[in-house]
Amino acid sequence: MDTTRRPRRLRTDGVRPLVRETEVSASDLIAPVFVDATTDERVPIETMPGHERVPVEESVARVEDVLETGVEAVMVFGIPESKDDRGSRAWASDGVVQEAVRRITDETDAYVITDVCLCEYTEHGHCGVLEETAESDPDLTVRNDETLGLLGNIAVSHARAGADMVAPSGMMDGMVGAIREALDEDGHTDVPIMSYAAKFESSFYGPFRDAADGAPAFGDRRHYQMDPANAREARREVELDVEQGADVLMIKPALPYLDVVRDVRESYDHPVAAYNVSGEYAMLHAAAEKGWLNLEAVAYESLLSIKRAGADLILTYFAEDVADRL
Ligand code: PBG
Repeated sequence: MDTTRRPRRLRTDGVRPLVRETEVSASDLIAPVFVDATTDERVPIETMPGHERVPVEESVARVEDVLETGVEAVMVFGIPESKDDRGSRAWASDGVVQEAVRRITDETDAYVITDVCLCEYTEHGHCGVLEETAESDPDLTVRNDETLGLLGNIAVSHARAGADMVAPSGMMDGMVGAIREALDEDGHTDVPIMSYAAKFESSFYGPFRDAADGAPAFGDRRHYQMDPANAREARREVELDVEQGADVLMIKPALPYLDVVRDVRESYDHPVAAYNVSGEYAMLHAAAEKGWLNLEAVAYESLLSIKRAGADLILTYFAEDVADRL
């Protein structure tokens, strides 16, 4: 038995902080904020304890609460007052996100990122313009190229409202290039794009779809979001977004896809973001409610492991709680 090598020497309370490799800090975190045009009061989101949809009038107060915890960045999601087949409220200058972003950027110092997608704005809940045959042919629901122009409109409308960064999440081919071109043509050459470069067709989005009322009315998102089985394909997806000018590369979900986070970290020098999604949040809460897990501890450990895998920034529903205790 060789006992000259004893890793336990470096595990005393005194030395642990000195040899710690990874740290989570408030400046790594982005807090999701839901702004809802259909309500005049705050509505708790049942599937995500501690989170609420807030009316536009409360958006500044909501963001101020985030800032108080030390988190400086927010991701704004909108629930529109009405939906149609093309999702036109998504790029309306008086739309829910545009109104909220105008207020938030006028009245706070938060760094404001917006989700650029159509699923919360279309009646059918898909992330783009539908094929006429969509309902009968679930393999082909969204018209990719026709959707690109709409995504460009959304990004421009967000930038005009003052968004600091836009984050397209629809997984349309060519979306980053189309958005970059649209932003540049409108003079927003300095607005970066955080692309949901590798977004998987995951069952961990369930609670969010309740929160944002964005579940597809029929079918699923399998032909635009990625197959959870594919890591090499994720690298190709990321490569395309890099070529099209993505500034930050996001992987989503986070915990079940840490291999992809690591792979993207090693393959690119861009900042890497991970989205610790609603299901990752809800399952820890549910277990903690039963007394089976210590919520504070597992929340922190989750974020730590996402950073350890290689993420620079994390979009997480735990942002405020974790930052508050750092
Ligand atoms: C919209 C969007 C979704 C999420 C973020 N943006 C839903 C989806 O793709 O179905 C999910 C976030 C979460 O689960 O926390 N495209």
